[in-house]
Amino acid sequence: MRIDVVSIFPEYLAALDLSLIGKARQDGLLDLRVHDLRDFTTDRHRTVDDTPYGGGAGMVMKPEPWAQALASVGGEEGAGDGSGDGGRPVLIVPSPAGAVFTQAMAYELAEEKHLVFACGRYEGIDERVLEWAGERFDVRPVSLGDYVLNGGEVAVLAMVEAVGRLVPGVVGNPESLVEESHSDGLLEYPVYTKPSSWREREVPEILLSGNHGKIAQWRRGQQLQRTAARRPDLLEKIDAGTLSKADKAELAALGYEVAGDRILPRR
Ligand code: ADE
Repeated sequence: MRIDVVSIFPEYLAALDLSLIGKARQDGLLDLRVHDLRDFTTDRHRTVDDTPYGGGAGMVMKPEPWAQALASVGGEEGAGDGSGDGGRPVLIVPSPAGAVFTQAMAYELAEEKHLVFACGRYEGIDERVLEWAGERFDVRPVSLGDYVLNGGEVAVLAMVEAVGRLVPGVVGNPESLVEESHSDGLLEYPVYTKPSSWREREVPEILLSGNHGKIAQWRRGQQLQRTAARRPDLLEKIDAGTLSKADKAELAALGYEVAGDRILPRR
């Protein structure tokens, strides 16, 4: 997969040299390039911002450096009718005004050949850039969550890690992707390692039993309990048709009932 990141703080992205993503880059699984937006300015001061039309606080990113940068990193395959090999590159614009990034979106993006991330700063990028970019990219404003960061760089670190680890070969043991939080719409069960007794706290006995069926059942129950306690909003999104009898009994004990294909709090 090819990934381009455009930012006025390219040093921010140095963390992508480390750990699994850094290794994937070295191994050639991710062709990740970071670009300095100021390299696409033409004035002596390398200006990237200006005051907002209509007034208001802060500065807005000027359109032309963005057009130059985006044309340079991803204009080609997206030009024309978008029917070129593999389709148009996806332009992700991190913004608190975007659609919320989820594991499902990470899986979708992991299927793409080419992602371009445009890191805004200040009050954001001149809106016409997004319209213009729509001619050559699949443009997606994406938010990390309902809070405001100073710029898109931290969001890009999170998204590149979440997407990059789903690219085949990046995570050594792909089994570990199957049982993690959000892979089945539930939070992950708690995990323990040696010693079995630590500061007078014991590992749940079932995990020492060697009974794999019972262990799987206990873990599933823990997933349901945790999700009900921490993220009840997730339970209500699950298709109840996927639940076992034991799941339904656990949910009933947690105060939920199954109505058709939905899980709802019992009234
Ligand atoms: N830029 C500023 N805030 C952001 C957020 N919550 N998500 C993504 N990009 C951002």
